[in-house]
Amino acid sequence: MHSSLVTHTEEETIAAAEHFSRRLLDGDVVALRGDLGSGKTQFAKGVCRGLGIREHVTSPTFTIVNEYNGGKFPVYHFDFYRLRSLNELNEIGYDEYINDEGVCLLEWADMIEEKLPVRRYDVQLSLGTTNTERIIQISRMQ
Ligand SMILES: Nc1ncnc2c1ncn2[C@@H]1O[C@H](COP(=O)(O)OP(=O)(O)O)[C@@H](O)[C@H]1O
Ligand SMILES: [Mg+2]
Repeated sequence: MHSSLVTHTEEETIAAAEHFSRRLLDGDVVALRGDLGSGKTQFAKGVCRGLGIREHVTSPTFTIVNEYNGGKFPVYHFDFYRLRSLNELNEIGYDEYINDEGVCLLEWADMIEEKLPVRRYDVQLSLGTTNTERIIQISRMQ
């Protein structure tokens, strides 16, 4: 499965993520890839909204992981931007999060490429030709 779309506003990206979230099942992992400001956090916001989470969603840059409850599934929202080594993944209990129930959203997934489960969604966000254009490519791996 592979889909590609273009959004023109932040709201459109959130709406696209909300739509995508309908196909998520408990335990799914979503690897978010793309440069700073490409919209990974906005996409995560949309997924959370689609799953019925009402909490405020922001990049968990300093805490590495945020947990949101009260939706269809628990959501674990990671941001690996400031990860210094893969050893830190053990400290935060990464394997448990990935293997247990709940949906995991991974910003800067490319920082931990070798630790990603083979079965996952990859979401690549890229800048378009205008300030607010984004290209979003979603693929199902395995
Ligand atoms: N089409 C769009 N989709 C997503 N974000 C957009 C779009 N157009 C402009 N933006 C802006 O780009 C920025 C994306 O930030 P963010 O989601 O935090 O990126 P990242 O998490 O990838 O660093 C926000 O300031 C948002 O308002
Ligand atoms: Mg972010």
